[in-house]
Amino acid sequence: MVRSTLLLAALSAISLVSAKWVDYDRPEDIYAKSGMYSVKVNGTYAKTVSYNQYDYLHISMSEGPSTEFRVAAVDGQKITEQPVISPKQLPIVSRIEGNELIFSLKKVHYLIIKFKDKKELIIAIDPLETDVPPSKGDGIFNVLDYGADNKGKGVTTGIQKAMDAAAKKPGSIVYVPPGLYLIGNLMLRNRTSLYLAGGSVLRNTAKKSDYKVLWTKSDLGDGTWWIQTEFDSQDIKVYGRGTLDGNGKASVGASPKLVADILVPVGTTNFKCDGILVRDSSFWAVSLIQVTDATITNIKIFDRFDVKQNDGIDVNESTKVRVRRAIAVANDDSFSTKTWPQDVGTTVPYPYPPRPLRDVIFDDCFAWTYCYAFKVGQGVYQEQDGVTFKNGVVYRAGVGLGIHHLFGTAAAKNVRFENMDLERVEGEPGGTGAWLAVFVHDNGKGVGPIQNVYVKNIRARKLGKYQAKLAGVDEKSMVDTVTFSDVFMLENKTAATNLDQLNVKWRQFSKNIKFDNTK
Ligand SMILES: *[C@@H]1O[C@H](CO)[C@@H](O)[C@H](O)[C@H]1NC(C)=O
Ligand SMILES: *[C@@H]1O[C@H](CO)[C@@H](O)[C@H](O)[C@H]1NC(C)=O
Ligand SMILES: *[C@@H]1O[C@H](CO)[C@@H](O)[C@H](O)[C@H]1NC(C)=O
Ligand SMILES: *[C@@H]1O[C@H](CO)[C@@H](O)[C@H](O)[C@H]1NC(C)=O
Repeated sequence: MVRSTLLLAALSAISLVSAKWVDYDRPEDIYAKSGMYSVKVNGTYAKTVSYNQYDYLHISMSEGPSTEFRVAAVDGQKITEQPVISPKQLPIVSRIEGNELIFSLKKVHYLIIKFKDKKELIIAIDPLETDVPPSKGDGIFNVLDYGADNKGKGVTTGIQKAMDAAAKKPGSIVYVPPGLYLIGNLMLRNRTSLYLAGGSVLRNTAKKSDYKVLWTKSDLGDGTWWIQTEFDSQDIKVYGRGTLDGNGKASVGASPKLVADILVPVGTTNFKCDGILVRDSSFWAVSLIQVTDATITNIKIFDRFDVKQNDGIDVNESTKVRVRRAIAVANDDSFSTKTWPQDVGTTVPYPYPPRPLRDVIFDDCFAWTYCYAFKVGQGVYQEQDGVTFKNGVVYRAGVGLGIHHLFGTAAAKNVRFENMDLERVEGEPGGTGAWLAVFVHDNGKGVGPIQNVYVKNIRARKLGKYQAKLAGVDEKSMVDTVTFSDVFMLENKTAATNLDQLNVKWRQFSKNIKFDNTK
């Protein structure tokens, strides 16, 4: 008894002493601080980053005790209106004092703050790292020991060299200390980990000649997988608090032009990725291709809105994928799943023949996009079976929840949208703009069924530009069996009981639509 009390006292003393937060150095040559906002965390200025249509701050902090945030307008102007702090469902109590917005957090969150007439500020807070490797020692391959240039002076091969050396000793870690590294294609080797220390930035050069062309897409031209795993590999991990910068805006503006996926786990098993920040992709940012068993956590994808086809996380033809605690800001879809035919455009370099997609869960994901926030499709060339989107929030999207069966004849089935909060739905990507769009679309590339969809415990605070869809195209390509449970429209406190209340207008070729409210 006495002992356990003492132990408890000792433990809480330790947690008091060890409560802390950390921010990360910016390579000043490429990232400036926000010109609009300053952020103080418990009284100390944190390192913000100025960006395109929003600015951001990335820190890690311990949970438990209350930590104070003060966001101020740098120009000293008084804040006259309460900003929107998203996710709105969080119990954050804020107040305004002069030019400061003040609130406290006990837990880590990804937040988007919108002041009237100003661009957004994203405050991305991760848990403190628990698995920081030593920078030197047995099984650690520090890239500086392999000649890597961390001043960003020119293309450096030291990271690949360290990786190749590490691969000879399975289980090793390639350690990347803070600094700016310009790199060509990077091959992540079998059974090795890449640790990106906070303050490290791997950057794409945006120069085509520095990269291997792996595929050509009819509308975009040549492309590459900037950082990929070896085929037939296993147990690869990418982690830390460092940044992968795709330099996408410069890439799409360059001549000759090359677009790139930033991180491509492909043909690999037991892949893990935790804690990194991915930004400015010129194409689908994080693309999993033909992967079995992957876990992606605490990932931040900050793309620009003036670059197209820059999806956040796409899962292609993979099985048992978990994406947990992610924020994806992109012009194109934030989170989606796809299957595609063999040897066409982007699939030319795929390691295996086409595979179905199964058992994918997106949990606690936060979306901001001009297209779809959470989507199955458009490609359904092989079956997609078992995709769950849960505990997600949409800050803004053209379509909140979607299954868009546009290409292929296979079925998309057993798809769940559960505990989702849609804050803003506006715009009309591809002519569809709605809180919900579950539909088969005949584009001359095949049609197929959508079966067994659950839409459960949803708050749709906006309906979207047009009415919602639940529609197939013929008897064989129907939307079959959709269950709505506890779906709340706008500010309504009563769950919807029919499709009219859900604002679903397009209903052709749909059947077995059920309402099963518990509230
Ligand atoms: C911030 O300050 C409060 C009050 O001193 C303290 O309890 C808390 O642990 C601090 N937070 C961090 C992350 O250091
Ligand atoms: C990776 O390691 C496993 C286990 O040793 C082995 O079976 C596999 O062939 C290796 N893959 C590659 C690409 O070397
Ligand atoms: C994933 O599949 C889609 C087809 O739905 C394709 O357009 C995209 O390029 C694929 N991604 C990659 C990285 O190959
Ligand atoms: C609220 O929802 C209930 C049940 O779905 C419906 O009867 C009612 O008309 C709705 N009210 C408004 C204002 O939409």
